[in-house]
Amino acid sequence: MGIYLDNAATSYPKPQQVAKSIYDFMIKNGSSSGRGSYQRAMQSDFFVYETRKLVGELFNFKDPKKVIFTSNVTESLNLALRGILKENDHVVTSSLEHNAVWRCLKTLEKEKNITITKVPSTKEGYTNPMDVAKSIKKDTKLIVFNHASNVLGTIQPIKEIGKIAKDNDVLFLVDVAQTAGAYNIDVKEDNIDLLAFTGHKSLLGPMGTGGLIINCDYDINPLKVGGTGGDSAYEYQPDYYPNKLETGTLNVSGIVGLREAIKFINKESIAKIHNKEKELTAYALYKLKEVKNIEIYGPQNSEDIVGVISFNIKNIRAEDAVHELDSKYNIMLRAGLHCAPNAHELIGTKEIGSMRIGIGYFNEKEDIDKLVQALNEIQG
Ligand code: ALA
Repeated sequence: MGIYLDNAATSYPKPQQVAKSIYDFMIKNGSSSGRGSYQRAMQSDFFVYETRKLVGELFNFKDPKKVIFTSNVTESLNLALRGILKENDHVVTSSLEHNAVWRCLKTLEKEKNITITKVPSTKEGYTNPMDVAKSIKKDTKLIVFNHASNVLGTIQPIKEIGKIAKDNDVLFLVDVAQTAGAYNIDVKEDNIDLLAFTGHKSLLGPMGTGGLIINCDYDINPLKVGGTGGDSAYEYQPDYYPNKLETGTLNVSGIVGLREAIKFINKESIAKIHNKEKELTAYALYKLKEVKNIEIYGPQNSEDIVGVISFNIKNIRAEDAVHELDSKYNIMLRAGLHCAPNAHELIGTKEIGSMRIGIGYFNEKEDIDKLVQALNEIQG
């Protein structure tokens, strides 16, 4: 099986029941949702509805109709940004965004002449909410922030930023790709208007699942139009949720797996998952210091980061090191820019990238010990 330390890219392993539920659904049901009235189709509808409810409840959101399923967080972010931003709107964002947000904003800058303010942050990725407040202008429509950076792990002060957004009547969109399921996130307490999630990372579900929670009244334009399973004689997209924003056959098998993953998280509890990951992160920060010639980026404090730690070793290219870790030790890490060049610009690694470990719920301290030993051995 090897040692998997790339949970920031996608979590592995998944709880057994996630895989089993997908298999069972495909073998025993396999019908579409929202398309038929026979019993199996109704059961499929129920699975989807229950998953909307479970996802919403995880973030203290009570309206399943406004839990929109997408295929991943990139689609969720595109849906929100493209569905909300209009000509000449102003957007405030962090210095650490993934390309899922950044490329979307840069494209809208070209297409719709939107303007973007990137709020400064420290080299460790800390943002001062006051800098967000200072960036708001008359034409600011939206603030978009990740909850935690996928390069530095730094957790952003979303509650404070959300309050600033609320006080200024600006929409607040949060990308929880790296935190959902491992951190308490409350759309009400945290003043989140739009929450973009993915199913396959810390939510422990399958790839191809994700969504957008709409905790506001803003009328979002669909990203795609087409069949919704109802009102078929009407020539335009229906204007009610979720159908307005969900077009084409849903990934019911994936959603069934996500349903099981959330049930697993609820059974274990977010607190237990969070504490284990925090303990492992603290251990990794401590043990990595034993690696010769290492430079660790981001806050060196497990209170301030998710289980994501980026680093380099002097005189070894990150790509070569991870290749050797994989081929000789069966240890899996990701190297490069991690689709987040802005974060690398901040730490001065845009040219060279970094190695990154992404700790997950199923990792153990021995995984870190073996990594540290291997990182020393590859240096001779
Ligand atoms: N965004 C994912 C990562 O950080 C794919 O690796």
